[in-house]
Amino acid sequence: MKILIVGGGGREHTIALKIAENPAVTKLYAAPGNGGMAAISECVPFKATDVAGITAWAKENAIDFVVVAPDDPLCLGMVDALAEVGIPAFGPNKAAAIIEGSKVFSKNLMKKYGIPTAAYETFEDFDAAVAYLQTADMPIVVKADGLALGKGVLICNTHEEAVEAVSSMMKDEKFGQSGKSVVIEEFLTGPEVSVLAFTDGKVVKPMVSSMDHKRALDHDEGLNTGGMGTIAPNPCYTPELAERCMQEIFLPTINAMNAEGRTFKGCLYFGLMMTPKGPKVIEYNCRFGDPETQVVLPLLKSDLLTIMQATVNGTLADTEVEFDNGAACCVVIASGSYPVSYKSGYVISGLEAAGENALVIHAGTKLVDGDIVTAGGRVLGVVGRCKCLPGAISKAYEAAKKIHFTDMHMRSDIGQRALAELNK
Ligand code: AMP
Ligand code: GLY
Repeated sequence: MKILIVGGGGREHTIALKIAENPAVTKLYAAPGNGGMAAISECVPFKATDVAGITAWAKENAIDFVVVAPDDPLCLGMVDALAEVGIPAFGPNKAAAIIEGSKVFSKNLMKKYGIPTAAYETFEDFDAAVAYLQTADMPIVVKADGLALGKGVLICNTHEEAVEAVSSMMKDEKFGQSGKSVVIEEFLTGPEVSVLAFTDGKVVKPMVSSMDHKRALDHDEGLNTGGMGTIAPNPCYTPELAERCMQEIFLPTINAMNAEGRTFKGCLYFGLMMTPKGPKVIEYNCRFGDPETQVVLPLLKSDLLTIMQATVNGTLADTEVEFDNGAACCVVIASGSYPVSYKSGYVISGLEAAGENALVIHAGTKLVDGDIVTAGGRVLGVVGRCKCLPGAISKAYEAAKKIHFTDMHMRSDIGQRALAELNK
């Protein structure tokens, strides 16, 4: 089988490694891929958002199955376009991808179907939003409606900050069209848990839970990033909470999407907060999370391609989705000054030594004249696996310390919050 993976980050490299384990796979392609994916697949230089280009290329090259990993091509309808030319693809169609593509849609969906989430109001009018803020309790959360590279969420401690946030989205158009509408919602507290789940629109099979570390610096300080590291499983997510989430959130969400005529097939990401009043949805993503995938998929014992095909064919109920009961930790190595600005093109050394005892996942890397060089903000994810979390953390850091490039940065406390939770 010839498989194409759309995307070029750490998530896509992890998916590629897992799919390559299936003996029926004869050739892997990546669009656009990265320096790590180049070692196991042929990289074709399309932008992941080039729906027409990628679809035509896939047809010409008789691709048997496509994995569309990032949010933007899913929201642009790449799965629909591939289906039109007869190529099955993993991921939701455009109608279902709106669950991530519009926060106004997802909040209204949760309200309509009684799925627990933060109380909220939506606004298309600046003055109405400002008037609402005058009487609202602080802190409060302001979110741009559309996709904003994970940066469209602002937690505001004062009325002034909240008005400034709304103004930046609606007046200054900081997030372009994404900020034309805003959601203003209640500030929730409690541990955060990420749960990715496979679904074919009929059944939902959750993967092992995980915990992201979004801030750039240790002790959750500094700016919000795409994610500086992850651990799995998340110790805050007890079997009791998992059962509650299944009954109160996962199944009702799948049913709600069906009732709306927007059947979701693929990987649905539940960003959850375990509040004093029970689990609530912070956000949905219509895809695998990054860097959650880097710790979740290495723990998957079943065959990934078979599961992905089952989500498309509607046969997930009969398909095994089994996880190892060990733990994994991913430490992201970023370019210095990420997420603000960074330089690229530095040669990376130590990759082989790091790979002896850990999985080295490439994100922002490129193969240039035989060297792997930096080519993005988040450069690598180093994944340690072990029977228990402390072992996984040690393995990840031991390996990460063998890697060098100019001006590199990593957090030194990935997993420490989870360990504190385990030792409670
Ligand atoms: P997002 O970029 O949508 O993943 O959101 C970024 C982060 O903002 C989340 O991971 C939460 O930590 C935080 N957040 C979003 N919504 C809320 C909320 N209603 N209450 C408290 N924190 C929130
Ligand atoms: N790690 C969060 C995300 O993928 O959006």
